[in-house]
Amino acid sequence: MDNENVKKKVMLSGIQPSGDLHLGNYLGAVKNWAELPEQFDCFYFMADLHTLTVRQDPKELRRRSTAQLAQYIACGLDPEKNTLFLQSHVHEHAELGWILNCYTMFGELSRMTQFKDKSARHTDNINGGLFTYPALMAADILLYQADFVPVGEDQKQHCELTRDIAIRFNNLYGETFKVPEPYIPKVGARIMSLSNPASKMSKSDPLGCVFLMDKPEELARKFKRAVTDSDTERCVRFDPENKPGVANLIQIYSSVTGRSFDEIEAEFDGKGYGVFKPAVGEAVIETLRPIREEAERMIADKAYLQQVYTDGAQKASFVARKTLRKVYKKIGLVEKPF
Ligand code: TYM
Repeated sequence: MDNENVKKKVMLSGIQPSGDLHLGNYLGAVKNWAELPEQFDCFYFMADLHTLTVRQDPKELRRRSTAQLAQYIACGLDPEKNTLFLQSHVHEHAELGWILNCYTMFGELSRMTQFKDKSARHTDNINGGLFTYPALMAADILLYQADFVPVGEDQKQHCELTRDIAIRFNNLYGETFKVPEPYIPKVGARIMSLSNPASKMSKSDPLGCVFLMDKPEELARKFKRAVTDSDTERCVRFDPENKPGVANLIQIYSSVTGRSFDEIEAEFDGKGYGVFKPAVGEAVIETLRPIREEAERMIADKAYLQQVYTDGAQKASFVARKTLRKVYKKIGLVEKPF
């Protein structure tokens, strides 16, 4: 068969522009998106609707949404080869999100770790959206009939719920949705905070968080101060249980240099943390430098970014509309005559 006619498998993922992109987002997600072979049909978006579950400064949200697009492109996502768009520009997400709410159980939503974490952190604003968030995420994925969802470890639970919702819906109405699979990297799927290696790196903990747009001096400082461990051994060995700080730095170093854990242990054998920490910092600085420079250049080019997200939303809407129409028909909504 002609290669052109073979339908490509679909990859889809998104990141909330609720803060600037950090090293966890990069190593756990975007880096892998950019490395995916070209035989996939790829959709990547800014999950701006999802950010509304926590109060946002409107001006900042707008700035971060387009800055995130610039960072996606700077990380290697070519807009000619990937469909890049803003979630809110494709209204089918909100529409299918509502429908899937009606096929998602209270008990399932109550078990979601992210809901438990966020509701504990934002006790003054435990809103309905925070609770039903996974149904919108399921809509994001199922609208595009995605085969794979490349995410970090923390999103596995939401991806599994998406599968359950898809299977439930298909059992009720016949084949409607592709049942997707999470696609989680072997290294980098759970990057921990530099200041507290017991919790994952997150924008809500700026001290231990490395941002893609941090300047080299800032990066060097953060890595120099990274918490290692208090044992007397002080050697570079991958032991997440007893040396979580060191294990996290080894993981970061491995992810940016492509070296195996064994090679890294050999490289720093007998050298101690005083040599190891700055070396990790330096490797991260060199990885992020071209990304930051390219993103800064693009953030200034508003017309270009607007063109990219306009084209992206048009392509995405075309696919999303097809699935939504199928869903409306299956569940018994009267077809729109205009
Ligand atoms: P979000 O915005 O919290 O994170 C975006 C991506 O970054 C990964 N990630 C990490 N990976 C490794 N180490 C870390 N410390 C780390 N922190 C974050 C996440 O696993 C994720 O892949 N609900 C999603 C956004 C979303 C989505 C979707 C994703 C909305 N709709 C549809 C996939 C498909 C979220 O809050 O990710």
